[in-house]
Amino acid sequence: MKKALIDFNNEELSALYRLLSSRYDSFRAQNLKLNMARGKPSPEQLDLSEDVLNAVTDINNCYSRDGIDCRNYSDFYGLSELRELFSQILSVPFNNVLIGGNSSLTLMYDTISRAFLHGLANSPRPWSQEEKIKMLCPVPGYDRHYTICESFGIEMISIPLTGSGPDMDMVEELVAKDPLIKGIWIIPVYSNPTGDIYSNEVLFRLANMPAKANDFTIICDNAYPFHTLTGSFVKPICLFDMCCAAGNEDRPIFFASTSKISFAAGGVSCIAMSDSNFKKALPSLQAQFICMDKLNQLRHARVFSDLDAVKSRMLQHCELLSPKFDLVEKALDANLSSYGVASWNLPLGGYFISLKVMENTAKRIIGLCKDAGLILTSAGAGFPYSIDPHDCYIRLAPSYPSLEELNTATELLCISILLASIENILSFSD
Ligand SMILES: Cc1ncc(COP(=O)(O)O)c(C=O)c1O
Repeated sequence: MKKALIDFNNEELSALYRLLSSRYDSFRAQNLKLNMARGKPSPEQLDLSEDVLNAVTDINNCYSRDGIDCRNYSDFYGLSELRELFSQILSVPFNNVLIGGNSSLTLMYDTISRAFLHGLANSPRPWSQEEKIKMLCPVPGYDRHYTICESFGIEMISIPLTGSGPDMDMVEELVAKDPLIKGIWIIPVYSNPTGDIYSNEVLFRLANMPAKANDFTIICDNAYPFHTLTGSFVKPICLFDMCCAAGNEDRPIFFASTSKISFAAGGVSCIAMSDSNFKKALPSLQAQFICMDKLNQLRHARVFSDLDAVKSRMLQHCELLSPKFDLVEKALDANLSSYGVASWNLPLGGYFISLKVMENTAKRIIGLCKDAGLILTSAGAGFPYSIDPHDCYIRLAPSYPSLEELNTATELLCISILLASIENILSFSD
């Protein structure tokens, strides 16, 4: 019967350390090349969308439902089929949806860039003319949001996630009094990496809270709306309706893509926002493109003809992904639970498991794994400025490796966690 590591005496700790070290050395000797760092779909997942590749094959079938020749310039907002689809995915009216290129991240960057250059619908002046811009960042969160902020010199304020969204008392208090807080990043469904699903109460409070900045913006990155790991789906969020009802229709700007529905590098993205935000954005958007890649839009429109088609593809992804998540969760449970040195979420969807280890051990664990051939997301990546204040969060991305690789990777990870935890406990008793 195992007991919590903290209850081991020094001799017991040293003995366990020696045993684990020799197992760790045997992993090191294998020259492993394992990677659980990024949320990449596996080749098998990408193969599911062969039908997308084959959907537009010759000069006679490159016309859209409305008879548009998708090879040519036209339709700045994108094909109506896809605008309809994303309008349903995001619960935003059809006219407020624009289809982008392959990456929603580009659209997010462009939105922030536009705010700096020209301002958003309700900005008194471009953000570049403010003394400083601050944004709220629920943590742990998505490192690329922070990279966008850093590239514009935006000051980031961490807000803890609670399991059903950010700590709203904190959000409301800050937003009500500071005019330089211009926005918040949210990933409302299966948040990266914690798996949070924002409750309706949280969404309602975000939509309704008073904000000192007139142009306070919810950057709603809905990257994983149907990315179930259980086979059941969450209802589309109705943040736009809530904001409209609160008289704050310009507050949310939505982003989504098919990166993890079809192809991570060859999907389609979208941005959705209010009429006034579009009006303000149009000169800048129209200066950038005549139309996006409609041939790729057509491929997607043919395969994903409605929400049911998206959902059935996501169930196929689920079949491939859920055994991987199960394997990792079971291995963590079997190897760690009784030692009391780590906890983790059991996500219902998305691409990540968020692991919480003893304070001051995450960097060491990630380093140990790296030295033995397992690359994990770098320490602190889930936090603004890459600083995890307690050095205790590790993001696991089980989607890409095979089951066999995951087995080895998780065993090595658990050994590394125990080694680092013992080192940490022994350092206190020195
Ligand atoms: C939360 C989140 N947003 C956006 C992206 C990237 O989206 P896209 O491929 O549409 O740029 C990812 C990819 O992992 C993500 O996790």
